[in-house]
Amino acid sequence: MNEALRTSFSNIGYIAASVLFILSLAGLSKQESARRGNFMGIAGMLIALLATAMRPDFSGYGLLMAALVPGAIIGGILARRVQMTSMPQLVAILHSFVGAAAVLVGLATYLGHTAEMTRAEHHIHLGEIFIGICIGAVTFTGSVIAFAKLQGTMSGKPLILPARHLINLMMLIATVALGVWFFRASETAPNGLWPLIFAIVITGILGAHSVMAIGGADMPVVVSMLNSYSGWAAAAAGFMLGNDLLIITGALVGSSGLILSLIMCRGMNRSLISVILGGFGTAEGTASTATAAQGEVRSIDVNGAAEQLKQAKSVVIVPGYGLAVAQAQHALSDVVRSLQSRGVKVRFAIHPVAGRLPGHMNVLLAEADIPYDIVLEMEEINKDMPETDLVLVIGANDIVNPSAYEDPNSPIAGMPVIEVWKAGTVIVMKRGMASGYAGIDNPLFFRPNTLLLFGDAKKTVEGLRNALTA
Ligand code: TAP
Repeated sequence: MNEALRTSFSNIGYIAASVLFILSLAGLSKQESARRGNFMGIAGMLIALLATAMRPDFSGYGLLMAALVPGAIIGGILARRVQMTSMPQLVAILHSFVGAAAVLVGLATYLGHTAEMTRAEHHIHLGEIFIGICIGAVTFTGSVIAFAKLQGTMSGKPLILPARHLINLMMLIATVALGVWFFRASETAPNGLWPLIFAIVITGILGAHSVMAIGGADMPVVVSMLNSYSGWAAAAAGFMLGNDLLIITGALVGSSGLILSLIMCRGMNRSLISVILGGFGTAEGTASTATAAQGEVRSIDVNGAAEQLKQAKSVVIVPGYGLAVAQAQHALSDVVRSLQSRGVKVRFAIHPVAGRLPGHMNVLLAEADIPYDIVLEMEEINKDMPETDLVLVIGANDIVNPSAYEDPNSPIAGMPVIEVWKAGTVIVMKRGMASGYAGIDNPLFFRPNTLLLFGDAKKTVEGLRNALTA
């Protein structure tokens, strides 16, 4: 195939891949079309690889295979083995690869740079390299810390250094100064390696420090912000390499990650700026002092809970992390069908940060064939709580914690929650009195209309199913 033909095929491939990536994102926005969206993304990536390998200036087939084959095998094994509950860690570590790739591409582009350029083009090129490397380093170290926190290798507690904003500001100023040194040193020959290396170190520390300063309960926003950063790092690599598809893909990932972060920030009542600067999750400069919940807990057994369910006219189920850990969704699906056949109106209430990753509960319920039309978002269902006879909270804690509204000192103060306490009766299903992800007490358990059904969610939900079908 001659060069012109290879270029044409490759360009067509890039356009097709870009369209598929956009359609993939559109598909992933709705549960019904998510599977199709996923396949479009896979097809887009395959076409992108083929189109890149077809470019006339491409010759590294051996290297491509040496990276692609082991990478695909390792990725495939990891993705098959990973539990849904450990998905955020996997996503975080994958973002770190994008960051590291942007740094390496930047260094290689700088050192291997030979093409003839005008002065203006040369300056733009240096800018691409410097910005790309800095975003890459922030993404790399930030993602590694996010991984360690989510995996439990590192404490989820925020590291609050005195004058940490000042430290961050100093690092930003130092990075700008290094940028100026880098530009000056690279004017005629690539002599700017030292400022580049210093910038990698400083922005790397900045990324690690920002994420270390963020409390565990706010990690979901951090993961989606790092997702956004990794997109911008990829886009920057695309500029360095002059690869349009990488720019488009990076921009799609960067902006969709940003939009997701904004949605999650709204869901947790946080501002995006404070996420980027780090250190939220506690009141500014002070340790949070949530008032300890206390009082008497009333418990109920499986048969008692089944009896209450039979008598209710309208039931709302609030699933949380514990349901995912226990894998109780299939038994729950039977409970729902059984209640519906008795004429009970059953609906689900989904909090935007329930579980451990965006959309976690939707995926879990879809797995168990629970119809989408009875699965409602928090804002849709909260207004119906006062008219609800019974709420079943299964393995959820932080997302139904009234102290978010009632205790200004709580680390989750201001976070919108599912207002289950407004319903007639609330049955909370969990194993003991342990706290949730945010590590705080929950006064809901001590409310007069709350009953606790203790036990592993799988056992108790199966117990309910058996009692309802007996
Ligand atoms: P959590 O507040 O973490 O509460 C889960 C509860 O489930 C725990 O209190 C635990 O109590 C119970 N549990 C655990 N295993 C169980 C089992 N096998 N059977 C029955 N119960 C079990 O969960 P949530 O309400 O879903 O809130 C999510 C939290 O995670 C939020 O703080 C959120 O910010 C954070 N987070 C969310 C994400 C995303 S994007 N969704 C990502 C990272 C972090 P016992 O031990 O007493 O049973």
